[in-house]
This record gives sequence, structure tokens and C-alpha cells, in this order.
Amino acid sequence: PKRVRTVHLQQFKETGQKFSMLTAYDAMIAGVFDEAGIEVLLVGDSAANVMMRRGTTLPITVDEMLVFSKSVVNGASRALVVADLPFGSYEASPAQAVETGVRFLKESGVHAVKMEGDATMAPQVRAMVSAGIPVVGHVGFTPQSEHAMGGYRVQGRGEAAAQVLADARAMEEAGAFSVVLEMVPSEVAAEVESALRIPTIGIGAGNATTGQVLVWQDMLGLNNGRLPKFVKQYADLRGVISSAVSSYRRDVLSGEFPAPEHGFE
Ligand code: KIV
Ligand code: NA
Repeated sequence: PKRVRTVHLQQFKETGQKFSMLTAYDAMIAGVFDEAGIEVLLVGDSAANVMMRRGTTLPITVDEMLVFSKSVVNGASRALVVADLPFGSYEASPAQAVETGVRFLKESGVHAVKMEGDATMAPQVRAMVSAGIPVVGHVGFTPQSEHAMGGYRVQGRGEAAAQVLADARAMEEAGAFSVVLEMVPSEVAAEVESALRIPTIGIGAGNATTGQVLVWQDMLGLNNGRLPKFVKQYADLRGVISSAVSSYRRDVLSGEFPAPEHGFE
């Protein structure tokens, strides 16, 4: 099947077609999502939370992200693969952003990178885009700034709506091909989606955005932590896996596994 490319996401917006994005951090899960038709896979720095249980996204490194990214690239033959630039790998200067972005495309094979930040990060986006690195912006609630923002909270309420719009506009003007809107009021997201030429991707941002994204362990019920309000749980993988491994353990302890047919003559 044909690879999803950034131009297709732009076409989706122009023809009023929506698209789906899910996080992925390993090759097998990436393969399952790819075969199911998920258009975009995000190697999110949420790997710090869901793969490593580190509490926030801040500590994950470029080298750690590269391992997850390579794995997802190897597992996906159709989806567009986007990787998050981790905290501390792009903020200092446009040159630092280009250097990190180049590492992602060169060493992991992802097709694009995503970067958190307001309008002040536009020079980073511009520099990466001119170096040939497709960039997704990420505005609204940005988890890497959790401490600066005073915790997990909806952004863009009331007066602050104009700021979210300005930040998203700055990303578009700097050359981003899409922007993630995280935890902003649905009406604000709708306004941003219609003000921008490029497609926006929502998470806790209502249904007016062209794309939607969720963390897969949240939406498939593997994560036993506290889930945000915007998550819809489509399966109970934790329950499925837990009961399967309990059966395995019971069989091992009782001697029922392995049975004669699992052994060699
Ligand atoms: O890291 C991540 O998973 C993300 C998405 C939730 C947008 O940035
Ligand atoms: Na992220």
C-alpha cells in the first residue's frame, strides 16, 4: 500500500476528510495499527510515561527516543511516522533543533518530527523545515512545560484563546505541516482549525480538528493510571492480558503446561 505523506494530510483537510493518529513505541504494535489503517503513528515522548513510568515526559533522551522511533519505522509500511523531539533537544537554538531533527530522520528513519512550543519556537520550526525536516507543531497544553504551566490544565480558556490561535498561526507561518492542539476548549480548537490552512490534530480538543490522536495504552485499556477525561477506552487489554497470564501461571503450577504436544519426541 502507498505511504501516507504530509501532502495527503493536507488533501484530507481540503476535502473535509478526517484522519486518525495513535502513538506507537515498538514495531509489533506499529504493525497492528498500520494494518488497521491508522494514518499517522506518533512516537510520542509520552514513552517516558507509558513505556518507562518516569512520571513526566521531561527525562526522556534523544537516544532513548531513537530506539523507540527505529522500532516503529520498522513495523509500519504505510503510516506516516512522526517522532517527538524530547525536552531539552531543540529549545536552545534553531541550530540545536536542526541537529536533533536531522538525527531523527537520519538515524531512525521517521518521516517528520513534532515539537512543543509557542510562537517563540517558530525560528526552530523554520530552520528545520528549510533543512528538509517536516515538522508538526504542538500548542495548547504542552506536557514538557508542565511545571511552567502549573500542572495538567486546559489552555486557551477565555482571554487565552487568542494566544492558542496565535501560537498555532506562528507554527503554520513557520512552515509546520500540521499542529497538535492539546486540551483546549472545543470551540477554540474549531476556531483554530478554520483559521489555519494546515490540518490540526486534536487531543482533548473536540471533534472539529481534521485529525485526532490518543496514547494507545490509554485508549486500549493497558494503562492502569488515572486517565484524562478526553480518553475513550476501546478495549480492556490489561484485563485480557492479566487473565491470559494468570491462566498460563495456573497451568505451569499445575503441570498442565506444557502438554505432550508442546514437547519434542
Ligand atoms: O507524546 C505524546 O503522546 C503526544 C500526544 C499525546 C500528542 O505528544
Ligand atoms: Na509528546
